Amino acid sequence: MKKLKKLLSAKKKLSNQNIQSNNLNRKVSVAPMMDCTDRHDRFFLRIMSKNVMLYTEMVATKSVLHGDRKKILSYSSEEKPLALQVGGSNKKELSKTSKIAEDMGYDEINLNLGCPSKKVQKNMFGACLMKEPDLVADCIHEMVSKCNIPVTAKTRIGFDDTEDFNYLNEFILKIKKAGCKTFILHARKAILKGLTPKQNLNIPKLNYEMVYKIKKENPDLEIIINGGISKTNEIKEHLKLCDGVMIGRSIYQNPYSLIDIEKEIFHTIDSPTREQVAEKLLKYLEKEVKLGTKVNHIMRHTVGLYHGQIGSKDWKRYLSDNMMAIDSDFQKAKHIMTIVQNNEKANQNI
Ligand SMILES: Cc1cc2nc3c(=O)[nH]c(=O)nc-3n(C[C@H](O)[C@H](O)[C@H](O)COP(=O)(O)O)c2cc1C
Repeated sequence: MKKLKKLLSAKKKLSNQNIQSNNLNRKVSVAPMMDCTDRHDRFFLRIMSKNVMLYTEMVATKSVLHGDRKKILSYSSEEKPLALQVGGSNKKELSKTSKIAEDMGYDEINLNLGCPSKKVQKNMFGACLMKEPDLVADCIHEMVSKCNIPVTAKTRIGFDDTEDFNYLNEFILKIKKAGCKTFILHARKAILKGLTPKQNLNIPKLNYEMVYKIKKENPDLEIIINGGISKTNEIKEHLKLCDGVMIGRSIYQNPYSLIDIEKEIFHTIDSPTREQVAEKLLKYLEKEVKLGTKVNHIMRHTVGLYHGQIGSKDWKRYLSDNMMAIDSDFQKAKHIMTIVQNNEKANQNI
């Protein structure tokens, strides 16, 4: 009887996972990016887009389990839906972290199988795990059985000399069997020796075809394509062959491009102007500064707000003169609306 109950509960967990995995809208997501997509950046991005899926920066399981958990994992409810991305390869640590993520209200937990940095390799997580399909499957299985939020994976299409459809497909099938239904595929292989993480984001050539082929071969899986995508027409083309698109650098550099994504992809009618974005952020800034957050920790993410617009230089200069110092205070931020209004007028007059 006990065995039957256990079996039923495991089955329920798996079916919950399917339902929840399908319920989250991952048509467009913002990529996890270390030192970029922290909670302040995510709040800022969420002002511009209600529909994109957001991811945290990668957090090592050991930091979650032994570090200042509140500091590392806290977020504002406005950021949701939100996925926690983790790095690790110890199944017990990963499953504990998954349960913590679920208890803290995260909507998804994502395992990083794509980071090529030396430090990450030394700790046995990230892209080097593509060489260890059984270990990854074990980890995913343990995570899936310990939490009710979807467990997803973000991986490369290969590593070093291995850029082979059959290898990638087998890797994905093993992880699928363990309970993962959503895969984010960064469409370039990782070079584990000889390239820096920065070079690894540009040098190995993008191979979108490989991702399309994975989707074609596995229509039951949710396949999200990532790498070098920025324009809405590109997103639309990829969406014909994949379930979702993940974008990193171009959104960080030009965050207001989320407005185009909202209009073109999600058919949103009412979008905030840059002035309204700045107004909302200012309220958040005031609240956060009272709680002890440094002004520059929030404002550094807004450098690209006027990307490609008249006033972009004035905006950047204003930020760097007034808000990028460690001890910048909120009073200086109060003048920000003058710069914003001048920029808005200048852009309307062209
Ligand atoms: C500054 C920076 C930090 C990154 N940090 C992470 C990370 O923490 N986890 C991860 O899976 N990928 C990370 N990446 C990779 C991105 O998530 C994404 O896969 C990559 O930038 C390709 O997408 P893009 O061409 O749209 O930028 C990072 C990339 C950059 C530029």
